[in-house]
Amino acid sequence: MPDLERRFRIRGNDFVSAGEVSLEIQSILKQIGFHSALVRRISVCAYESEMNVVMHGGDGEALLKVSPESIILIFSDQGPGIPDIELAFKPGYSTANLAHREMGFGAGMGLPNIQKSADTLEVQTEKGQGTILTIGFELGGRSSG
Ligand SMILES: Nc1ncnc2c1ncn2[C@@H]1O[C@H](COP(=O)(O)OP(=O)(O)OP(=O)(O)O)[C@@H](O)[C@H]1O
Ligand SMILES: [Mg+2]
Repeated sequence: MPDLERRFRIRGNDFVSAGEVSLEIQSILKQIGFHSALVRRISVCAYESEMNVVMHGGDGEALLKVSPESIILIFSDQGPGIPDIELAFKPGYSTANLAHREMGFGAGMGLPNIQKSADTLEVQTEKGQGTILTIGFELGGRSSG
């Protein structure tokens, strides 16, 4: 039973609210009193995942689970799925459209940054079935900074 569990809705293509969920997650973790370096790593993962749902995934949600052992973020969406996961994780690879690029997105660095910042990462996706990203951070160990 996790100490804390919070669920957030994310709306596809809503660039006005985009980023609010990751800010909320950041503020919850700060308030609990987690180390700032850890909160920063988690915020990077939350922000990149949230933006990917907004830009590529369509409607979705985020789930934050905090337990004494770990912090888990689960981002899920009902979008088109990722046809080639290996390609999607290649730095610089992006299918962002012109409108996204004009807003400053589309560097193709979101997934590589999530991979670098997380302790564990699992991607479940299927064409036409959406995407689930499970991002883990271990607490208490050396990596909790
Ligand atoms: N939730 C998702 N649903 C469908 N496709 C996705 C999803 N997340 C990522 N992708 C695909 O993986 C590609 C790479 O994602 P990544 O976050 O690394 O870069 P980006 O979002 O294109 O650009 P950046 O994050 O640097 O602004 C995306 O361009 C998109 O094709
Ligand atoms: Mg991205």
